Amino acid sequence: MADLTDFIQQVKRANDIADVIGSYLELRSRGTTLFARCPFHGEKTGSFSVNRNMQIFHCFGCGESGDVIGFVQKYESCSFMEALEILAKRANLKMPETAAQRQDKEYSEKKKKRDVYLEICRETAVFYYKSYYGARGEVARKYLEGRGFDTETVKKFGIGYSPDRYSLVKYLEQKGYNMQDCLKAGVVQQSSSSGIVDALSGRLIIPIFNMQGKVIAFGGRGMDERTIAFGKYKNTSDTPLFTKKDNLFALNIAKEQKQQTALPNLVVVEGYMDVIAMYQAGFRRAVASMGTSLTENQAKLLSRLTDTVYICYDGDAAGQKATVRGMDILDKAGLEVRVMSVPEKLDPDEYIKKYGKDEFDKLIDAALPLPDYKLKILDEAFPIDSADATKRNNALPKYVKGALSMLRSLDDTRQAAYIAVVSNKTGYSQDYFRRKLSEVDSEDEQQLPELQVGQLSQEDKAKYFIAACILRGESYATVTEKPLCNSAFLSNLYDYLLDCISKGETPTVDMMYTVCPNAKSEEYAQIIDVDLGKDRRQKNERYFAECKRLVTVEKLKRQRDELTQKIKNNPNDTQLLEEFSKLSKKITEVK
Ligand code: UTP
Ligand code: MN
Repeated sequence: MADLTDFIQQVKRANDIADVIGSYLELRSRGTTLFARCPFHGEKTGSFSVNRNMQIFHCFGCGESGDVIGFVQKYESCSFMEALEILAKRANLKMPETAAQRQDKEYSEKKKKRDVYLEICRETAVFYYKSYYGARGEVARKYLEGRGFDTETVKKFGIGYSPDRYSLVKYLEQKGYNMQDCLKAGVVQQSSSSGIVDALSGRLIIPIFNMQGKVIAFGGRGMDERTIAFGKYKNTSDTPLFTKKDNLFALNIAKEQKQQTALPNLVVVEGYMDVIAMYQAGFRRAVASMGTSLTENQAKLLSRLTDTVYICYDGDAAGQKATVRGMDILDKAGLEVRVMSVPEKLDPDEYIKKYGKDEFDKLIDAALPLPDYKLKILDEAFPIDSADATKRNNALPKYVKGALSMLRSLDDTRQAAYIAVVSNKTGYSQDYFRRKLSEVDSEDEQQLPELQVGQLSQEDKAKYFIAACILRGESYATVTEKPLCNSAFLSNLYDYLLDCISKGETPTVDMMYTVCPNAKSEEYAQIIDVDLGKDRRQKNERYFAECKRLVTVEKLKRQRDELTQKIKNNPNDTQLLEEFSKLSKKITEVK
């Protein structure tokens, strides 16, 4: 690609390194060399030098060095091509198209469109921002005030408000934007009955910026029951500018922090509000994965900013299969991964509000390196230190299998260190582990344990437990209605149970095989293997009640979803709305 090589030289000639760096940093001359405080590691003295003759920079403190493109790439946390583009623009040079782009006939057209979408997103953000501070924005301002957010923070994140379905549409029309473009940018959507409407109407608006500080999408939080019924958050759908799984919220802020002083680490949390609360508390190194599991693209973005990532997810989410896989992806991308746990099932926002930032910092100090975290999950699933000998013995081989799978994911140095740890913990020799690990593709390979359990939802586990208690003749155990059943096994089983109960007969385990003749052995096992123990009656009874509650809430929520759908189709039916608020109230009561 000779023309690109030529172009790179042309861009470098047109961008004097001292001029470019001078536009970012304050440079002072000492003799023939220019110095500044290094932007790539935190320092008070000026060890960062710029040599105009050689057109390079070098830091005597951290060893970072390179040419003008390298500087922009590091400083802007962007790719080589993006840095090249920034510098080309600065010198008024037009980027040549790559071979792939030339093949893509519509490439330049697409690029132009992207710029239009970016403009539309920016204008939309302006509109939301103005609405937030206008008369109708009071509800949003009150909401955030009630959650303890101050004006400065709210401004920093550019938070806004969507007052209704049509104002944004009118605003964009008046600005002269084509509605097709607005639809493509994802800020408005086609409604079946009401034409083109604001995609996030009635919500508090959280703009999502890319690394370059441009708005590419929005998150909208519902602030009342009716809106929340359509989702607590609604986000801009995937567009040419934004795909949720490939972006992170608050990258722009993390980058800004990095430009002030090198980032020792970043904390990845789940939610918008977590990042915002942390920022307000003075913790400005957080980004949010927006509730999805981490991807390679996100790993790439993170590694441009730092080399150590702390994962701070809700207790429930952190052990999930997808979450652990996401952590492995970061690990594979060369990031040092540590896992935090926040007590009491609180999210960072709640934790900081309750205990303050200093306590949150302690959670960071206590975070576990990824391998240790995996061992911790194993330990919880297979308690090899249990006082109960049978339990211990059952757990040990499973723990060992899980540990082997963890060890396999490690490079040689870490593997050696953790073989020692695991050997110590299990009593199996280090040799045993080494031998097992050298076997290619051992069939012992097993996934982390809760991953298997995790395939059943809490609600489904509850349904098995309830049925098991009834079939075993536990005296407190009964049901009055059929739960939502998404398997033939559960459905048939509950029909049988309810039939017996209504007739005053006692259901039996044996009949389970008759009424559910073609079930999988795991399904039967879910009933037979339930350990009700001895002398655990009270505990079991309480757990039983809890399971029933879970199952009831699930069913009510399903009803509410169905009702929501109906309301969508008949927005003016007041009876439906009334039903809806009744149902919502009932859910809150049962919860
Ligand atoms: P959370 O429910 O933990 O969000 O979901 P949060 O930020 O703590 O919200 P508050 O405190 O209740 O206001 C984590 C993230 O998952 C995404 C959002 O990005 C959210 O911040 N999410 C959640 C959705 O996209 N849609 C939803 O309905 C819920
Ligand atoms: Mn929250």
